[in-house]
Amino acid sequence: MTGAFPAIRLRRSRSASWSRALHRETVLTPADLIWPLFVTEGTGVEEPIGTLPGVSRWSLDGIAARAKEAVSLGIPCVALFPNTPPGLRSADGAEALNRDNLMCRAIRAIRDACGSDVGVLTDVALDPYTSHGQDGLLGPEGQVVNDATVEVLVGQALVQAEAGADIVAPSDMMDGRIGAIRSALEGAGHHNVQIMSYAAKFASAFYGPFRDAVGSSGLLKGDKKSYQMDPANGEEALREVALDLAEGADSVMVKPGLAYLDIIWRVKQQFNVPVFAYQVSGEYALIEAGAAAGAGDRDALLMEKLLAFKRAGCSGVLTYHAPVAARLLGA
Ligand code: PBG
Repeated sequence: MTGAFPAIRLRRSRSASWSRALHRETVLTPADLIWPLFVTEGTGVEEPIGTLPGVSRWSLDGIAARAKEAVSLGIPCVALFPNTPPGLRSADGAEALNRDNLMCRAIRAIRDACGSDVGVLTDVALDPYTSHGQDGLLGPEGQVVNDATVEVLVGQALVQAEAGADIVAPSDMMDGRIGAIRSALEGAGHHNVQIMSYAAKFASAFYGPFRDAVGSSGLLKGDKKSYQMDPANGEEALREVALDLAEGADSVMVKPGLAYLDIIWRVKQQFNVPVFAYQVSGEYALIEAGAAAGAGDRDALLMEKLLAFKRAGCSGVLTYHAPVAARLLGA
């Protein structure tokens, strides 16, 4: 602090719009956004998701069209999540390893439509493929087993990389999976396939609409607390991040977003690596519901929240509001 009132009047710099622009410390641009997309079977299919107003599942043609839209809006990357048909879900999630599964076909459809104009981020976890809705394989007592799950995740990541994924993003929270996936990618010659680790992913109540979107909510019994983190823990989040970086993650994610801004800030301060926030489905739904209930202006609410992630240190944000935000930013 230099000087004191009245020599210092902080309102001076706020007094005009040009001056506010000049003093602005943080900017949000379309290049900060990653757009999560839900994929479904069929042609010409758009299935609105009831708990995520304004968000739909798209068949491959629609996914390709959304990817083109991302390019035209200046959104650099899309994130894919498949709604696997019920008949292809099994206890071992074997469909995740099928080179022609919905995810792999969606990657290729985007590649065909957009070339390398957009990054394709793929989700590595078994929940869209298992008949029980957990992210991993179950042991004899119904627990999610770690090491056997990691082996399957490695296979899943390789299949996605083979199909053309640019960033594989393990969202499962098994221990040791980043190192195992990195060495398998290196071994298979996928040196430039990035890993964005869901490093600090919390066992959150904000994931409900997503589970509807990928069709796992009706299947899931119990919770994911034996692998996702306790929302009470910050130190442990830093340990998770340290391990994933040591194992070869190119970037790390904190998820959910707004309730964990302190974690984002601490990760950025401590490691100074690219950090991303996932503004998850429940956060999106709350903004939409709040605005619909008259709690505030929807556009202003969503832009303020996205800016908060940049201020906290994020390189970017995964958000279902990506196309809306890009348009509000003038794209
Ligand atoms: C699971 C996964 C989840 C999300 C992304 N990957 C939900 C969960 O852990 O059950 C949530 C994303 C969202 O809520 O928008 N692998």
